[in-house]
Amino acid sequence: MKIAVVGTGYVGLVTGTCFAETGNEVICVDIDADKVEKMKQGHVPIYEPDLEVLFERNQRQGRLKFTTDLKEAVDASDIIFLALPTPPGEDGSADLRYILGVAKDLSKLITKYTIVIDKSTVPVGTAEKVHAALVENLDESLFDVVSNPEFLREGVAVDDFLKPDRVVIGTDSKKAEDKMRRLYEPFVRSGNPIIFMDLRSAEMTKYAANSYLATRISFMNEIANLCEKAGADVDAVRKGMGSDSRIGKRFLFPGVGYGGSCFPKDVQALAHTAGQHDYDFRILNAVMGVNTKQRFRIADKLEAHFGEELKGKTIALWGLAFKPNTDDIREAPALYTIDRLLEAGAQVRAFDPEATEHVRKIYGEKVTFCEDQYEALDGADALAIVTEWSVFRTPDFDRMKSLLKQPIIFDGRNLYDLERMQEAGFHYDSIGRQP
Ligand code: UGA
Repeated sequence: MKIAVVGTGYVGLVTGTCFAETGNEVICVDIDADKVEKMKQGHVPIYEPDLEVLFERNQRQGRLKFTTDLKEAVDASDIIFLALPTPPGEDGSADLRYILGVAKDLSKLITKYTIVIDKSTVPVGTAEKVHAALVENLDESLFDVVSNPEFLREGVAVDDFLKPDRVVIGTDSKKAEDKMRRLYEPFVRSGNPIIFMDLRSAEMTKYAANSYLATRISFMNEIANLCEKAGADVDAVRKGMGSDSRIGKRFLFPGVGYGGSCFPKDVQALAHTAGQHDYDFRILNAVMGVNTKQRFRIADKLEAHFGEELKGKTIALWGLAFKPNTDDIREAPALYTIDRLLEAGAQVRAFDPEATEHVRKIYGEKVTFCEDQYEALDGADALAIVTEWSVFRTPDFDRMKSLLKQPIIFDGRNLYDLERMQEAGFHYDSIGRQP
C-alpha cells in the first residue's frame, strides 16, 4: 500500500518505518526542512532501540522516503496518517491546532479516495473535527477519517509496533475497515485481535488505557508509601497481588512517579474531557495528586536523612531519562529531584547512559555531568537512583563504597536485594521496603 505519515516525531517515525518494513511504500512529511534533510541522509533523529536498522534498510531499498512537501506525499499515497503533536494547553486540554491545520491543508490537496487516520492521541470527538475540516473543500465520497490510536512504549516501540497486543481501529466506513484490516493483518498473525469500533470509542480507548495504567502506578506508589510506615515490603506485596490473574504482574512497580510525554499529559487531558462533560472524574484527580508528590519521593528521603545539612552535601544521581532505553527527559522524575536538591543547596553529580545532553541544556554548570556511573560517585555523600537502567543493576559495590564518602544509597527503583545491601554495609533506603 502507499502510505504517507505526516509528522516525523517519535510516533510518526516508528509508524512509517514499521509500515515500510512490511513492504508498504511510505513517505514521511515534516515541516522541519533541516530534520528532513538529515533523515534523507540516513540520520535517525531519535534514540530508539532497533529503529536504526529498519530505518536504514527500508530507506536503502527505497520504501521509506522523506519530504517537506505535503502535496508530494498526498499525491503518492491513498492512506495518510496524522502523527502530529497535541501539546497540553493551559487548561490541560489537548491543543489540536496542528492536526486541524494539516486536515485543512489536506482538504485542498486530496484528489482521489484517501483514508485520513488520526494516530496521535486526540480527545474524543477529534475525528469529527478532522472530518469537518476536510469536508470544507472536499467531497465526502473522496475520504474517510479513521481513529487508530497507538500503544507504543518508548524504548520498545519497534517491537510493540511489529507485534501489538491489539490494534484498535475506529471507523464508520466499511471501505476503510477493509483497507485497515489488510494493512494491519501482517502484524497480528499470532492471532492478536484487530478491534473495530466507532470513532469516539477508539479515541476514548487510548485515554482509558493510559489513565488506567497511570492509576495502577499511583495506587502502587501509595501502597509502597504505606508499606514503609506499616512495616511491610512492597516487593512481596506486589508479587502476592500480581499472581492473581485478574490483576496480573505487569505495571505494578512503585517508584518515583510516572513521567514521559504520555501518562502525565493523557491523564490530565481525560480529566479535562470529563470536566467538559460536566463529570467530576475523582479518581483521575487523585492519580495526578499522588504522582505530583511521588516525583519528590527520593528528594524527600534525602532531606529527611540529612536535614539542614543537605546544604553543601554532594549527591550522586544515577539516571536522568524518564525511564531506561530512551533519551527522553519529558516529565522525568530526575528533573524534579535535581530541582529540589539544588534548592536545598546540595551539589549534584549526575550520570545517564543516553539523556545527559538534554539535561545539560537545562542546568548547564549547575549540575556536574559525569561520563560514567562511578565517576558520579567520586566524593559524593550519598547516591540517589531514579532510573532503572540495566547497567545499574549489578554494579561493583566495593568500588562504590570506596568512592562514596559514606555508603548511603537512596533507590527510587528498588534495584537491589535488602539483605545483600545490609551485608555489604550500605545504608540502603528504597521505595516501600524497610531501610
Ligand atoms: C506509555 C504506554 O505504556 C504506551 O502503551 C502508550 O502508547 C504510550 O504511553 C503513549 O501514550 O504514547 P511510555 O510513556 O513510553 O508508554 O512509557 P511506559 O513504559 O508506559 O512508562 C511510563 C511511566 O510509568 C514511566 O515513568 C515509568 O517509570 C512508570 N512506570 C511504569 C512505573 O512507575 N511503574 C510501572 O510498573 C510501570
